[in-house]
Amino acid sequence: MDAIDAIAMGYDDGDVDTNRSSNPDLGSLIEQRYSRRQALLGGLGAVSAAAFSMMLTGCGGDGDGGTSTAPTMPTVVGFGGQGTASTGKLVSLTGTTTNGSVTAPRVTQVSGPAVSLINANSQNASFIAPAVAAPTPVVLRFTGTDSTGRDIFSDTTVMVDPAKLDFAAVPKNLNDVVTVPAGYSVTVLYRLGDPLNAATSAYVNDGTDTGFSARAGDHHDGLSFFGLAATGNAPDANSNSRGLLVLNHENISQRYLHPAGPTTVGGARPTAEVIKEIEAHGVSVIEIGRAPGGAWSYVQSSAFNRRVTPFTATAFSGPVRGNALLFTAFSPGGTAGRGTINNCANGYMPWGTYLTCEENWAGYFRREADDNARRTAALSARSVTAFNRYGLGMGANDGLRAGNYGWATAAPTAAGNTDVSKFNASVRADTPTNGTGDFRNEPNQYGWVVEIDPYDPASTPRKRTALGRMNHEGAWIGRTIAGVRPALYMGDDAQNEYIYKFVSATPWAAADAGSANRLAIGDKYLDAGTLYVARFNADGTGQWLPLVFGQGPLTPANAGYGFVDQADVLTHARLAGDALGATRMDRPEWTAVNPATGEMYGTLTNNSSRTPTTTDVANPRAYTDVMIPQGDQVNPPSRSTGNANGHIVRLRDTGDSSEATSFGWDVYAFGSGADLDPQNINLSSLDETNDFSSPDGLWFARSSNPSGQVTPLLWVQTDDFAYRDITNNMMLAALPGQTNDGTTRAITNRTTPATGAAQTGNQTARIGAAPGVKLRRFLVGPKECEITGIDTTPDGRTVFINIQHPGENGSFDRPTSNWPASQSAAAPGSRPRSATIVITKDDGGIVGL
Ligand code: FEO
Ligand code: CA
Ligand code: CA
Ligand code: CA
Repeated sequence: MDAIDAIAMGYDDGDVDTNRSSNPDLGSLIEQRYSRRQALLGGLGAVSAAAFSMMLTGCGGDGDGGTSTAPTMPTVVGFGGQGTASTGKLVSLTGTTTNGSVTAPRVTQVSGPAVSLINANSQNASFIAPAVAAPTPVVLRFTGTDSTGRDIFSDTTVMVDPAKLDFAAVPKNLNDVVTVPAGYSVTVLYRLGDPLNAATSAYVNDGTDTGFSARAGDHHDGLSFFGLAATGNAPDANSNSRGLLVLNHENISQRYLHPAGPTTVGGARPTAEVIKEIEAHGVSVIEIGRAPGGAWSYVQSSAFNRRVTPFTATAFSGPVRGNALLFTAFSPGGTAGRGTINNCANGYMPWGTYLTCEENWAGYFRREADDNARRTAALSARSVTAFNRYGLGMGANDGLRAGNYGWATAAPTAAGNTDVSKFNASVRADTPTNGTGDFRNEPNQYGWVVEIDPYDPASTPRKRTALGRMNHEGAWIGRTIAGVRPALYMGDDAQNEYIYKFVSATPWAAADAGSANRLAIGDKYLDAGTLYVARFNADGTGQWLPLVFGQGPLTPANAGYGFVDQADVLTHARLAGDALGATRMDRPEWTAVNPATGEMYGTLTNNSSRTPTTTDVANPRAYTDVMIPQGDQVNPPSRSTGNANGHIVRLRDTGDSSEATSFGWDVYAFGSGADLDPQNINLSSLDETNDFSSPDGLWFARSSNPSGQVTPLLWVQTDDFAYRDITNNMMLAALPGQTNDGTTRAITNRTTPATGAAQTGNQTARIGAAPGVKLRRFLVGPKECEITGIDTTPDGRTVFINIQHPGENGSFDRPTSNWPASQSAAAPGSRPRSATIVITKDDGGIVGL
């Protein structure tokens, strides 16, 4: 359209301010830059000479307005007019002239925070509105030559507002699809069983498929995107259209993996079934790409594609490498490992590697009857104490501990092969007492953070023992600042476990981010440093307590468990945390770091064992949340007690330094149904647009785009049982404030357990400012799934997340979810599959803003 048309059509949704006195004066700009010959005819003549219209894609909406309405339609502003956009919006600009075609069209920025212009040498340029703290003008200039040979130009001002959540909250629901707000699209990228080379057939999904070392594993969890150059093998951290997606396969839905469920023959699991189940665990590395203007897909035959499974060779590094605690028949020197398992959340390292974290590994190990007695005789009582503390216990009668899925009952794949029998951790009487003849120490080889170089499919993953051994949920690195030792924040996900911080011994050097020897950079930062555990004080302060052998109680004289060296302390970090008096938390799951402030946020998903009398200021709630299954849900009526809905704690290291040994803290948000007691349970005043339960996945937007700058966007994912009568699991977007922006309040806890005596207890809660409209439900998943894993392309315009274990309570012949087949059409009988999905905004803007 030409300028006159643009003005005459008068698109105006009320979001256009035509008289912003703070903006640059157009006339003065013209006087400064152009001679009169350059089309400055004055008055309307100038207007007709060139036009610069803007399509403010999806701008407006209610933003912080308090309600949750759909975003408004795009806005067009004519020449001389001005528009508004908020951080993260795609702003499209069209330059035209009334005098025919334009040659040498060009758009440049005149003033305001720098923006990246897309298609700047054209009449149709665009940019993403930058991050700002207050309304800020961005002035763009269109220049060219019209058909009469005259130079033309036009300026337009876009007033950019701070980031806001500009989407309609997705209602809670129990549908068997992924639901996202209007204006967004979902595609399914990578499903359980999808083939990873040309030789592997498509997944039939009837339980007959085999060969999972070349297929997608099950239970997709943490994920990260690593950019690749447009062609070839070179990393490109800025790529938004081609890269490697790395994701964890935490566990399996065993019921769907075989034709008629798992079988046992004569007390033994069939080897073929067990191999399939084992190989469905681990990690995937897959090449993905986006067709120009089109959809994302993975590249089935890419040479980058890789599965890391519980059979893949690994190497130990850091202080525990070579220690007798790691000796096994496979690894008599304690330096080699074989595989990784129950990989939950993750870490994305600035030097281009992926951290995968071993969480509920203990469950897989079998111990034969009397192993406590055998272990005590062959090793010491300390070994039994340590196993008990890590969930490897035998029970009071020292009877058989079967191990998940009965893997260790399977016959070997070949004579003498120990790849399956390694899951039997029993002490054998006929082997050396140092453990080199059996797998008594195999459980010590798990519970670590493992670093993978996704760009090198032949590389050996390294287990980073300096970061300690626990039920590692994730490991997230804080801000990297030149000359400062970086920190990683980690949760140990079990009831009443701790939050940890590892501070590297090595100050950060920015050049390391570009190294081609990525695992060597990992050695540099992750193999030496100090592991700390968190103690939260009632006054809103806290301490990071060092896990250093010889300091404080971490000596041979420690009551209950005497430590013998630093390897012992790191391998038994939980016991060290006990000795140091760390704060027992409500199941620490993911950690995330605000890239603008350095504050750490941590999800505390729930804790059924918290009681009113064991609450503390950091874990202040214990109550009863009644659950009422509805419709075709198969869960029996039940109730959740303790901290039924979880909360999100946040802390700010003293001096905003990753090296600090103290911090301040509060609770960003308490999970709750909107209908629960506002005085004692729904402490964050959640409403129908943002109430949630059991936060788990947690991630701040990348600082490489406006959604991760100034007021970064936080994503919260849930893995809930308590609220499943009302809604499937969900993902919310947030624009959080800062630590200690709220209040404290005295609360009273009451529980009415199904059995036992009711309890009452008082506590003080440190409550962050009510999140209100700055926390909003963005997505609801299909039936019986968990939402987990998240990353974006560096530009924030493509989001990748995982849907884990849809239909986890069904059976092969009666699946309780048919997703992802059900995403596009009803698919009765279709077995559900964990899968990675892609979310994009239809107008091309940053997702969530
Ligand atoms: Fe695998 Fe704690 O979630
Ligand atoms: Ca989790
Ligand atoms: Ca969880
Ligand atoms: Ca799960």
